[in-house]
Amino acid sequence: MTAHYQVHGDIAVITLDNPPVNGLGLSTRQGIAQGMEQALADTAVLAVVLTGAGKAFSGGADIREFGSPKAMQEPNLNSVIQMLEKSSKPVIAAIHSVAMGGGLELALGCHYRVAAPGSSIALPEVKLGLLPGAGGTQRLPRVLGVEPALNMIVSGEPIKAEMLAMLPGQQLFQKISASPESLAEEALTFARSVAAIRPMPIVSQLPCKHPLGDAYFQFARNMVGGMSKNFPAPLKCVDAVEAATKGKFEAGMATEREIFINLMWTSESRALRHLFLGERAASKIPDVPADTPLRDIKSVAIIGAGTMGGGIAMNFLNAGVPVKMLEMKQEALDRGLATIRGNYESQVKKGKLKQAKYDERMALLSTTLSYDDLSGTDMVIEAVFEEIGVKEAVFKELDRVMKPGAILASNTSTLDVNKIASFTKRPQDVVGLHFFSPANVMKLLEVVRGAQTSIDVMATVMVVAKKIRKTAVVSGVCDGFIGNRMIEQYGRQGGFLLDEGCTPAQVDKAMEKFGMAMGPFRMGDLAGNDIGWAIRKRRATERANMKYSKTADLLCEKGRFGQKTGAGWYDYKPGKRDAIPNAEVVKMIEDYRAANGITPRKISDEEIVQRLVFALVNEAAHILEEGIANKASDIDICYIFGYGFPPYRGGPMLYADEVGLFNVVQAMHRFAQNPLDDAEFWKPAPLLAKLAAEGKTFN
Ligand code: NAI
Repeated sequence: MTAHYQVHGDIAVITLDNPPVNGLGLSTRQGIAQGMEQALADTAVLAVVLTGAGKAFSGGADIREFGSPKAMQEPNLNSVIQMLEKSSKPVIAAIHSVAMGGGLELALGCHYRVAAPGSSIALPEVKLGLLPGAGGTQRLPRVLGVEPALNMIVSGEPIKAEMLAMLPGQQLFQKISASPESLAEEALTFARSVAAIRPMPIVSQLPCKHPLGDAYFQFARNMVGGMSKNFPAPLKCVDAVEAATKGKFEAGMATEREIFINLMWTSESRALRHLFLGERAASKIPDVPADTPLRDIKSVAIIGAGTMGGGIAMNFLNAGVPVKMLEMKQEALDRGLATIRGNYESQVKKGKLKQAKYDERMALLSTTLSYDDLSGTDMVIEAVFEEIGVKEAVFKELDRVMKPGAILASNTSTLDVNKIASFTKRPQDVVGLHFFSPANVMKLLEVVRGAQTSIDVMATVMVVAKKIRKTAVVSGVCDGFIGNRMIEQYGRQGGFLLDEGCTPAQVDKAMEKFGMAMGPFRMGDLAGNDIGWAIRKRRATERANMKYSKTADLLCEKGRFGQKTGAGWYDYKPGKRDAIPNAEVVKMIEDYRAANGITPRKISDEEIVQRLVFALVNEAAHILEEGIANKASDIDICYIFGYGFPPYRGGPMLYADEVGLFNVVQAMHRFAQNPLDDAEFWKPAPLLAKLAAEGKTFN
């Protein structure tokens, strides 16, 4: 049982004890129910205190039970809440740390609530494309007022208990304890003070009205609808809260239930739940046990203070980890330092960073021109030029100076991490840490596992990733790792579409309508078209058979590298990021078609989306089959957090699953018929073909 029962004099205490956050799984619910039965049967008990052990009151549903029959098995959460509400002895929730989702709904079933200051209170279900399904939409407005409750339900964001306790007329908290430490004692005292009071206050019996009635809900719908375009759940939250103001409590509960079940079946909610679980699963590596010993990382060195080095440094400074940056020349160090300072200063100016914090962070940063100064650091991340000779020189130096057991990481985006490891006498300590630009902003981190990278290095870098607030996905060694290897195929399809009749703007618009943060050509302009150009030139011999549209090379020959030169696939005004279509580029593409005897055709948005997204999917299936990615959800996480794939579609793999792998394969067969496309590429990856034939999915 994951809830305990104890009696303190005349008060019974039921303590949820289901680490890490007292999720309300079946055995915890059974524990509460049993505790209540005991308390009601014991005539010496006058009141019941409900609280949580460890780090939370309760974080809500137990995610380990998601989708399993256990989640609904009796006593389900609604039954437990009814038990509390109908109890003939008062029940007092003693809340500390976290009361979220089902945890808060449980507390709302109690007669009174005492909270410790600093407790985070939320109904975050909307973030999973759902709404609170155990009375949260009906009870919270009754204790907090319609407007503040609706704001909490629609945003899902946590608010501190003491802030909520200041709302006029609120009945959510009857008391805020003097400190978290005194909560238990104060809750017992409070319980004794209310033990004899009858009738007991019952949340579901409180009235629920908004003074403006329909007009308020009209306003709320306009606001919420505008902000939540592709997500149905927020507007449904408004419907549920409105129902709380319109009829009897039971009718409101029925509405909430019906909406909850309908939302469960939406593809958006499936996608968001997939991401929620996928993000947690990404940090688990199949052959790295949870109890793998970790290396202690208290300080970090960074080689190269350029675009990436500076951004990477900021991640560690933000997390309070001292950073030493090394460059070959003082000017380069000064430039790198100035960029970091500039970034922080603009945050201070915008009021996003306090001056004291800025000073604290800059004090953690030091610079050097000498490798010998790095000998004391626990981890080093190399971010020098992308040339294997330069990497070799750097890693030989690192091998010479770094202390035994230090982690040696490379931020290379295309080079072979095994080769880099071979420059040292300690390949077990070498790993790829592929950050995305801008490195201080982008959430994704690809952790590239070399053939010899040891499991404790893997375990340690996953923890480090969390510390610097990155979402880490593990990739094996291959050209481009997971993300860029897939994006190459996506970009190649983009090129073919230009050859066949599209403009860059048409392709981008179709992809942005699908939900991508940016279409492929705007993305190219942002990243710099010259980068892909250089890679294609370098690979010209090894990939002589790979078919490409020549339009991107022609563009680069014109010096149109993208935003940084003010001109790429589009034009850019100085200091602005708006992409302005350019007639010369369109003409360049038309001339290219004419020179190659291609008659342009009209191409539908549907074809654009399918060719680009299924190109990702087919390459991903190869990646999965080769073991470069451990699981399909890792690929989805990579694309959502690193490449602007729409979260409500759950990533390319879940999207393919939703379309149906059979249909995906049929489309690939169609694309292979197109003489201007690459028939060889469109042969479905064996894994994809097999899953499609068996009627299975990636996830
Ligand atoms: P960058 O050119 O902005 O910075 C490189 C820095 O390294 C320069 O400041 C240079 O002075 C310094 N440097 C060169 N050789 C050195 C040496 N031997 N010792 C010490 N410092 C040296 O380049 P960027 O864009 O920061 O790229 C760095 C690495 O990060 C490359 O491996 C690149 O492939 C990778 N990367 C780049 C991304 C991007 O979007 N720019 C994204 C992900 C990875």
